[in-house]
Amino acid sequence: MKPIQVGLLGIGTVGSGTFNVLRRNQQEIERRAGRGIEITMVADLDVARAKAIVGEGVQVVNDARAVIANPEIDIVIELIGGYGIAKALVLEAIAAGKHVVTANKALLAVHGSEIFAAASARGVMVAFEASVAGGIPIIKALREGLTANRIQWIAGIINGTTNFILSEMRDKGLDFDVVLKEAQRLGYAEADPTFDIEGVDAAHKATIMSAIAFGIPVQFDKAYVEGITKLGAADIRYAEQLGYRIKLLGITKRTDKGVELRVHPSLVPTKRLIANVEGAMNAVVVQGDAVGTTLYYGKGAGAEPTASAVIADLVDIARLHTADPEHRVPHLAFQPHTLNQAMD
Ligand code: HSE
Repeated sequence: MKPIQVGLLGIGTVGSGTFNVLRRNQQEIERRAGRGIEITMVADLDVARAKAIVGEGVQVVNDARAVIANPEIDIVIELIGGYGIAKALVLEAIAAGKHVVTANKALLAVHGSEIFAAASARGVMVAFEASVAGGIPIIKALREGLTANRIQWIAGIINGTTNFILSEMRDKGLDFDVVLKEAQRLGYAEADPTFDIEGVDAAHKATIMSAIAFGIPVQFDKAYVEGITKLGAADIRYAEQLGYRIKLLGITKRTDKGVELRVHPSLVPTKRLIANVEGAMNAVVVQGDAVGTTLYYGKGAGAEPTASAVIADLVDIARLHTADPEHRVPHLAFQPHTLNQAMD
């Protein structure tokens, strides 16, 4: 069977991680997918840098629309980020009949309903495992592993930058600004780090989890959002003395009045597992009525952890389009319409 052909829009940290992991684990990935997966075209404004990353055999262009217009491309990976041009390109890719894989939590949290409706109408997939908690397969856990459950609440450390800042301030007594610069250097922080430190990035991710867990539309504008910028070293110290650790938590919860969605610094008793999640690591706790409490822990940012999630989505889409029934995914768990059912 012909390999599935993939076009990549934006080759920064995650894009290069995706190339590296695909190349390193190609045989295993393709065996699991049931067919070849090839990134054949890349669009990036910096063509020279992109060529240096991808090497020979991959067409590099500076016009993302050339990728979307290519009839050979089956899947478009959007790694540009933000709400602007990324939204236009995702909608154009869907209109052109391409499946889309994206890590863009901002785009989905704000414009997800429009994007999922367009994908549903065109009969294509929008897959977004990489949009929440990097390498932790939390989207798949919510949609597949926990599908039998009535989810009661989700609480998570879902922004690595702020967790890194809080950990370093506590352990090393470093200043906020110094640690933020280090998080940027390590590639954890967003292009606009105010999204991290003001809680916006965590709220984007909590919004997406909330929509999946409770079957409500994605509604970022309904979230209460508070970041860590008002916290000082003294707050962290006093919390420790009282037996608590300050964590920026994203929380979404089923209540009698509807779904609660909030991000804010929280006092977590130090004996709790989640209080001991350090550095840029992420952790998500999910409470389901059948399973009880489950905990998911791992790297929430960075090139290869995020690439791991991007490639998982590529494999899922490739499986759905393989002729070999043995490799076919037995259900369409990540079809967009599942996001639009009302919460009962
Ligand atoms: N800026 C994000 C974080 C990157 O720090 O978690 C991963 O979404």
